[in-house]
Amino acid sequence: MRVVSMNTEMVGRWLDMRLALWSDTPAGIHRGEIETCLAAGERQAAFLCEDDAGVAAGFAEVSLRTDYVNGCETSPVAFLEGIYVIPRYRRHGVARALITAAERWAVSRGCRELASDTDTNNLESLSLHTALGFEETERVVYFRKELSASFTDN
Ligand SMILES: CC(C)(COP(=O)(O)OP(=O)(O)OC[C@H]1O[C@@H](n2cnc3c(N)ncnc32)[C@H](O)[C@@H]1OP(=O)(O)O)[C@@H](O)C(=O)NCCC(=O)NCCS
Repeated sequence: MRVVSMNTEMVGRWLDMRLALWSDTPAGIHRGEIETCLAAGERQAAFLCEDDAGVAAGFAEVSLRTDYVNGCETSPVAFLEGIYVIPRYRRHGVARALITAAERWAVSRGCRELASDTDTNNLESLSLHTALGFEETERVVYFRKELSASFTDN
């Protein structure tokens, strides 16, 4: 197994990984976000973990966030935007290796904190974060309210 930085040659495998993790999002949106990440320079990165035959085992994306990140004390904060390991490679240290790569990237950009989030029902992700040294900071509930056009001026 080895972890490499995603580049323009790896867009096909990157897209497959994204579709596996975020299957509700259309491929066209993923392609746009991949392009944005590739163009983002120092502000975003993505890593692929591949087996000895070059088969993708998992991926992770990380970004620098300068807006407030719940529970963090510094800025910018490196944020783990997504991590996914294909089922047959789970519990072999793939996520651990990807997060180590993300940490190295974050430190090289001057960050002192790596933040992340996950659904409260995602027990495997909660276990992963705890095992890799993340501390839980906050649990939040998101709300939304449909707004009426009647509030517009004129
Ligand atoms: C969560 C996920 C990324 C873990 O990937 P992984 O490669 O299996 O994780 P690792 O093998 O590196 O695990 C490192 C440690 O995390 C913990 N861990 C990982 N998966 C676990 C699980 N299912 N149950 C309990 N502990 C787990 C263990 O302590 C493990 O160390 P160990 O195997 O030596 O006991 C993977 O299960 C996955 O892709 N899930 C679906 C997508 C997802 O939920 N992503 C996270 C959204 S934030």
